[in-house]
Amino acid sequence: MYEERVVSGMRPTGALHLGHYHGALKNWVKLQSEYPCLFFVADWHALTTHYESPEVVEENVWDMVIDWLAAGIDPAQAALFIQSRIPEHAELHTLLSMITPLGWLERVPTYKDQQEKLADRDLSTYGFLGYPLLQAADVLIYRAKYVPVGEDQVPHVELMREVARRFNHVYGREPGFEDKAKAAAKKMGSRKAKVYMQLRTKYGEQGDTEALAAARALLEEQGNLSVADRERLFGYLEGGGRMILVEPEVLLTQASKLPGVDGQKMSKSYGNTIALREEAESVKRKIRTMQTDPARIKRSDPGNPDKCPVWQLHLVYSSEKTRQWVDQGCRSAGIGCLDCKQPVIDAILSELAPMRERAQKYLDDSTLVRNIIADGCDRARKLAGETMREVRQVMGLAYI
Ligand code: TRP
Ligand code: SF4
Repeated sequence: MYEERVVSGMRPTGALHLGHYHGALKNWVKLQSEYPCLFFVADWHALTTHYESPEVVEENVWDMVIDWLAAGIDPAQAALFIQSRIPEHAELHTLLSMITPLGWLERVPTYKDQQEKLADRDLSTYGFLGYPLLQAADVLIYRAKYVPVGEDQVPHVELMREVARRFNHVYGREPGFEDKAKAAAKKMGSRKAKVYMQLRTKYGEQGDTEALAAARALLEEQGNLSVADRERLFGYLEGGGRMILVEPEVLLTQASKLPGVDGQKMSKSYGNTIALREEAESVKRKIRTMQTDPARIKRSDPGNPDKCPVWQLHLVYSSEKTRQWVDQGCRSAGIGCLDCKQPVIDAILSELAPMRERAQKYLDDSTLVRNIIADGCDRARKLAGETMREVRQVMGLAYI
């Protein structure tokens, strides 16, 4: 039950492009074979900023799932689902809102930043303020261990940890906790109970984090414990109450270094993207007309790769040998910019070709994607339900 789950979400804001691939999706593809992963379409999150244009969300949801599948996300490994199909996220959000101080939300850096950046929209809404808490619910509901996100989202994960800690502090303290924890330890058998107690003492008295990790691993192996006992033993280790919600950790994703075709960061709002399902002809055209070192006006002018966005693409796509050929040829005016761009065009086309091929299958038969999502929703709902049963119980809501 405390398997090392990974949870991440993405807002449906339009066709995914190479920046998304190199900045996030490629990492998801790697993670899916290393951990049980849950990836979801954050449609409610999109509404926190696009509440006046719901059609944007609707159009993009299915397309984004197709982009994920095209990029190599494997539904046999990762569970893919849509946030709003799991209403338990909203329920947990409401319940967490009871214990979340306003100040915690007001001081999340993206709150003020985004309000200033998206000044054309009125973001002085309750939903926008609460959005990092909704994100906390997205992750805490699956008791995830890791959240793969970029730098900008780190404060959100920090908030999740604080909320989980506060929740466990407020609701994890039950009468007779210590006795119950000791009784739970005995249920592992006297030998393991002894090891557990020794490791706990080692951590408690000497702050030995290896002992803490070993004790956690021991608990993770125990198949015979009830959920409540397991939570007690996790909490007892660290001297708190029951650990009902798990504090997740950031898995920092390196920001994509990929420039857009105008040299700025690749982003939909700059209109400089290459989409994952872009036609080959269009890719060629965009790269061929891409800006180069402004000092290279004529073919005979030497250039400087450091001043050229095409070089950034070589850094992502080319071998050392090709890079040397570029560096020399550019500085000596030995090669032309079109020659220089050709290996990049070839590399991008061969990266995208299998994606277009995979996408076609899903475009031809839309029931495939619907079934994948239905299956992912079932898997997610089951896990979310388990957590919510516990949460309702400790918050005095388990009437039946
Ligand atoms: N807020 C994230 C973004 O804008 C998307 C997101 C929503 C998310 N819920 C999440 C990411 C949970 C990780 C985990 O990119
Ligand atoms: Fe840029 Fe290559 Fe042209 Fe040099 S040769 S300016 S690196 S495109």
